[in-house]
Amino acid sequence: MAKYKIAWMPGDGIGQEVMEAARIVLDKLQLDAEYLPADIGWEFWRTEGEALPQRTIDLLNEVDCGLFGAITSKPKQEAENELIPELQGTGLTYRSPIVRLRQKLQLYYNLRPCKAYPGNPLNYREDIDLVVFRENAEGLYSGVEFHPVEDDLREMMKKYAPALGNFDDVAGDDMAMTVRVVTMRGADRIIRRAFEYAQKHGYPTVTLVEKPNVLRETSGMMVRVAREIQKEFPSIELWETNIDAQMMWMLKNPENYGVMVTGNLFGDILSDLSAQLVGGLGFASSGNIGDELAVFEPTHGSAPKYAGKYIVNPHAMLLTTKMMLDWLGETEKAIALENSIAGVIKEGKVKTYDMGGKSSTLDVANAVAERL
Ligand code: NAI
Ligand code: MG
Repeated sequence: MAKYKIAWMPGDGIGQEVMEAARIVLDKLQLDAEYLPADIGWEFWRTEGEALPQRTIDLLNEVDCGLFGAITSKPKQEAENELIPELQGTGLTYRSPIVRLRQKLQLYYNLRPCKAYPGNPLNYREDIDLVVFRENAEGLYSGVEFHPVEDDLREMMKKYAPALGNFDDVAGDDMAMTVRVVTMRGADRIIRRAFEYAQKHGYPTVTLVEKPNVLRETSGMMVRVAREIQKEFPSIELWETNIDAQMMWMLKNPENYGVMVTGNLFGDILSDLSAQLVGGLGFASSGNIGDELAVFEPTHGSAPKYAGKYIVNPHAMLLTTKMMLDWLGETEKAIALENSIAGVIKEGKVKTYDMGGKSSTLDVANAVAERL
């Protein structure tokens, strides 16, 4: 029996070809794993009305981790129009399988390392080595939303939040609300993971990126929790910054930062900016991580216009594969893979269009595999 069971989820579009690239390096590394194909994506929405079938969730509950390519999502009406005739008009609503996966399997944080590999012509600056810890299960993306805002709800909320009275002249229909939920449990576990990561990987600081001067309660709770946790990690400094100012600092002095931790929406924004500083979507890897399970995916989507052309950059997927190896405890293989990727980038011979080259997706994967 193989040492690991890995759910293999190429998904849609270029998800398929970058996963092929991942398999080339995994085979070369001779990882002792069984790769179990799992259904996810648009085809399953169209034909079954469910982009993340229950059998995939069941499988994920049995494996060590999952590796995922990309999915296609479309707006509500368009999604319904593409259902097979038998499923049309049955009241099905499309839900993003990746968001559901994070919630259903309690993959409560999203880890996004962004490193400037020497020789990458797309680096904004050399010496960038950032890691974003984005809360994945609560915050402004908790799904607690209201429209219209009913009178009884408004009256009740006003008792506790008098500021709502400022909108008394607005009709419930003309008002929408999204609630930002932060829990002690959620704040504690993500901030703790960030400190543990900083300690393990030798980062001297953890930067909490929030907005406590305005979001007094939710960001305030994050700050209180962070200060408490820092006491358990005396060798690591806690820096506290505001999300807006942080955007400026990231462009001015990105090399000053290392591990950053933040809520769901701010993390979404911060991680896209961080990725662009080191080459953009072709280099952006990520992991959705919980206590027992993790699903790794490149940040990019299915890029339909390139699907099947084998021209997109697989480095994002290969760096994602490296993260998976790290998480499995296959440290030597993870280091070897990262060194090979760095070597190919530095040499600058084999590169895809986004880096100014003409190599194919699989050329890059093969060049990386050759160095292993
Ligand atoms: P996208 O990430 O698929 O592509 C945007 C553009 O970025 C591409 O047209 C291409 O120019 C570039 N790009 C992306 N990956 C690249 C790579 N590996 N190498 C080189 N260039 C690359 O985002 P888009 O076009 O907004 O969305 C397309 C579909 O993907 C949509 O259906 C969207 O919902 C879905 N999506 C899925 C995600 C996921 O699976 N987690 C994340 C983002 C979008
Ligand atoms: Mg995003």
